Amino acid sequence: MNNEFSKYSQQYNNYNLIQQIAAKALVRDVKNKASNILELGCGSGQVYKNINWPLISYTALDFSQNMCDLHPKEEHISVRCLNFDQEEFFDFLKNKKYDLVLSSSALQWSSQLDRIVKQVSQVTNEFHAVLFTSNTFKTIQKITKVKSPILDETHIKETFSHYFSCEFETIEYKLEFSSKKELFDYIKKSGVSGASTLIYKEAKNLYKNYDLNYLEFEVIYIKALK
Ligand SMILES: C[S@@+](CC[C@H](N)C(=O)[O-])C[C@H]1O[C@@H](n2cnc3c(N)ncnc32)[C@H](O)[C@@H]1O
Repeated sequence: MNNEFSKYSQQYNNYNLIQQIAAKALVRDVKNKASNILELGCGSGQVYKNINWPLISYTALDFSQNMCDLHPKEEHISVRCLNFDQEEFFDFLKNKKYDLVLSSSALQWSSQLDRIVKQVSQVTNEFHAVLFTSNTFKTIQKITKVKSPILDETHIKETFSHYFSCEFETIEYKLEFSSKKELFDYIKKSGVSGASTLIYKEAKNLYKNYDLNYLEFEVIYIKALK
């Protein structure tokens, strides 16, 4: 999966419309104007670019070196190439404190969301995240009979509710395309599918049977407070 993100990292800015909307909405809803922030899965910096208040320190973390290279660099920004599913991340969190932890369009890939949310709850009182849910590309899943590789809404809600008081909002987005080719290119290049190799094995059947002129995305916005 790391490779998939890295391979398209140069073109990524053209193929991340939903992520851009999600990152903007995530930051718009931050009311505490935190000045010491940690971000998980920072990519090329969509979240950081939406922050319009003064910061003292911003730690942006991503496991793809190519993505880290694309993130804005400034004196108060520390970009770390770390995998949030691995021990090194949990070591990194030890003795840290943040006013706010943010994550946009990244944690749906996590293989141990519970551990991440638990550890994050020890370093901050406020965690705002937006995750794609397994209902993303739901018609494609129906046609290919391949289950989504990303986490489902119920699991996400239960996990965050274990460690925080949460407000959830689930939103479905439809992104229209003028041709099937554009639509399928988008899936491949957006960095959202994770299952593109599986999907593309069945590409012909899918191409033939996908009758919608739009792609379906579902995201869940989470405001988690201690
Ligand atoms: C869809 S992009 C979103 C990037 C950015 N947050 C945004 O809103 O545009 C997902 C990002 O999560 C990163 N990512 C995925 N799994 C990760 C992991 N286990 N550890 C760290 N970063 C990860 C990817 O490298 C990618 O940059």
